[in-house]
Amino acid sequence: MDLRLDGKVAIVTGAGQGIGAGIAQAYLAAGANVVVADIAGPQRASWDVAALEGREPRGMYIKSDVADEAQVQNMVERTMAAFGQIDILVNNAGVLSQAPVVDLTVAEWDRMMSINLRSVFLCCHEVLPHMLARKSGRIINIASQLAYLGGAGTAHYSASKGGVVSFTRSLAREVAREGILVNGIAPGPIETSMQDNTQTEWRTWKMGLLPLGRFGEVEEVAPTAVFLASDAASFYVGQILGPNGGDVMP
Ligand SMILES: NC(=O)c1ccc[n+]([C@@H]2O[C@H](COP(=O)([O-])OP(=O)(O)OC[C@H]3O[C@@H](n4cnc5c(N)ncnc54)[C@H](O)[C@@H]3O)[C@@H](O)[C@H]2O)c1
Repeated sequence: MDLRLDGKVAIVTGAGQGIGAGIAQAYLAAGANVVVADIAGPQRASWDVAALEGREPRGMYIKSDVADEAQVQNMVERTMAAFGQIDILVNNAGVLSQAPVVDLTVAEWDRMMSINLRSVFLCCHEVLPHMLARKSGRIINIASQLAYLGGAGTAHYSASKGGVVSFTRSLAREVAREGILVNGIAPGPIETSMQDNTQTEWRTWKMGLLPLGRFGEVEEVAPTAVFLASDAASFYVGQILGPNGGDVMP
């Protein structure tokens, strides 16, 4: 079983912090060069990507709003100019907010769809031509278990992640025979800043529902992304893997 990614080039969106940072660091440890594409500048990142410039494997920070077509095009162009190929794309950038549907503004619905779902299409749309040209690539989309469970107050977030699941399955069917494997990860609640705005009562209630009785850590999600990017995952197509503490058992 080969879980090494030596010499590969990966783009991980939203990797300035949280799950994306964990995946980017795990990729570097597995030998891949990593482009961190995040709307926040490098000074706001939780880790020092700039320190990896000029190293082997190399890290590179590209400040980019992945919901914006021109910025995604620029991000992909800069990656190709720097590395000449893209082997792995992880669509991880995302946001969470909570509001009952009756109070949800149209602007917030559109923002959620734009960052969580449109961005996945945009990044795939720009990266795919480079993967198709080499008949090789891995795309890993970060969904959420809320795509399956739904959640009171998270209809917009859950719908965006349901869209990510369906998009993943459709694209997987489209490009599998072109040598590009598309899969997803649907984490359960993970201890990142995304959980900062959740209420204590909700956390206590939610932990009680989980067979493990606790939320997950970033390090418990990142290995799944390494596996899906590796040669060991060569028979995985359109699968949504679930590091979720047992909350959802599809
Ligand atoms: N933490 C959880 O409990 C959990 C559970 C299931 C799924 N997820 C998903 O995992 C992914 C990562 O979440 P996290 O918990 O690490 O969150 P996080 O808030 O810690 O990190 C998200 C990162 O995405 C970046 N980002 C936001 N909008 C962006 C944009 N338009 N363009 C580029 N970058 C942007 C942020 O700057 C940040 O660095 C998200 O898609 C989230 O929906 C998280």
